[in-house]
Amino acid sequence: MHILLIGNTGQLGWELERTLAPLGKVVSIDYPELDLSEPEAVRSVISGLRPNVLINATAYNAVDRAETEIDTATAVNVHAPEIMAEEAKKLSALFIHYSTDYVFDGTKNDLYVEQDRPNPINVYGSSKLTGEKAIEAIGGFYLIFRTSWVYSLRRESFVTKVLQWSRNNQTLKIVNDQVSSPTWSRMLAEVTAYLLIKGGDQPMAWLHDRVGLYHLAGTGVVSRFEWAKAVLKLNPRPSENVKQEILPALTSDFPTAAKRPLYTALDCSRFTETFGLQLPYWLTALQLAMENG
Ligand SMILES: NC(=O)c1ccc[n+]([C@@H]2O[C@H](COP(=O)([O-])OP(=O)(O)OC[C@H]3O[C@@H](n4cnc5c(N)ncnc54)[C@H](OP(=O)(O)O)[C@@H]3O)[C@@H](O)[C@H]2O)c1
Repeated sequence: MHILLIGNTGQLGWELERTLAPLGKVVSIDYPELDLSEPEAVRSVISGLRPNVLINATAYNAVDRAETEIDTATAVNVHAPEIMAEEAKKLSALFIHYSTDYVFDGTKNDLYVEQDRPNPINVYGSSKLTGEKAIEAIGGFYLIFRTSWVYSLRRESFVTKVLQWSRNNQTLKIVNDQVSSPTWSRMLAEVTAYLLIKGGDQPMAWLHDRVGLYHLAGTGVVSRFEWAKAVLKLNPRPSENVKQEILPALTSDFPTAAKRPLYTALDCSRFTETFGLQLPYWLTALQLAMENG
């Protein structure tokens, strides 16, 4: 297997680089060697390296900044993945791309399935949805995985922020009305690697029969408040805490540039049934993450 991983410094990309290593030749490239806002650079890196698996772990994820940096969000979340899909198609390579629960408006108040109508309420979600559609329109050999609330202990994430806040503040106020499924970046990377070898002697043929878009996240549904409480309970360095109490708050208590969808938990049963892989419960994954980093 010859894998080209675009983005190896982000939460997911860092984990993917290590998890994919045993599967074959893995070449990784990231900013500043490759700037995704330069379309020709993206094209020439792929056509030059000629992988048979191309994985995009990059994204413009700054949800609030995206409201004003629309061109950058569009370049990274729409145009770059579109070029990747085009180049992968020319090579008959598998293209794996990740998208987000923020394609939904969060008003369903139940688990979102792939057939639900997306209706993003911020620029980030809208750019990721347009990116999905561009890949689907090219129609090559692709897998799009919509995931949610990705965290890592290595880069700034909600989990590391909660730990940091608890070291600096006596009272933590965490929103209780944003609900979804936390996803450990290592779990996402490992599941991606398992998929690549699941088909035995014919891994690509097996995946060819499964082209499409899937929801892929930690299982279970939790509010950010409950998630933060679990993080604090599992805190590996509790003696450093100055935190005395944690209180529920409302999203409207913290005005932000971008609107946040409230309920975006994903139903991943299509993924589980299609690929025969179980996805860990969010709290089980969090326990492992807190023990192992
Ligand atoms: N984080 C979440 O909560 C979340 C939720 C749902 C879905 N997702 C999706 O999951 C996937 C992985 O997300 P993540 O959390 O691992 O992302 P991340 O940690 O923010 O990493 C994003 C990566 O993209 C790179 N990048 C951004 N702009 C670039 C550019 N112009 N040129 C080259 N590289 C650029 C970043 O490089 P630098 O580090 O140098 O900026 C970084 O390596 C993405 O598709 C994301 O949309 C994430």
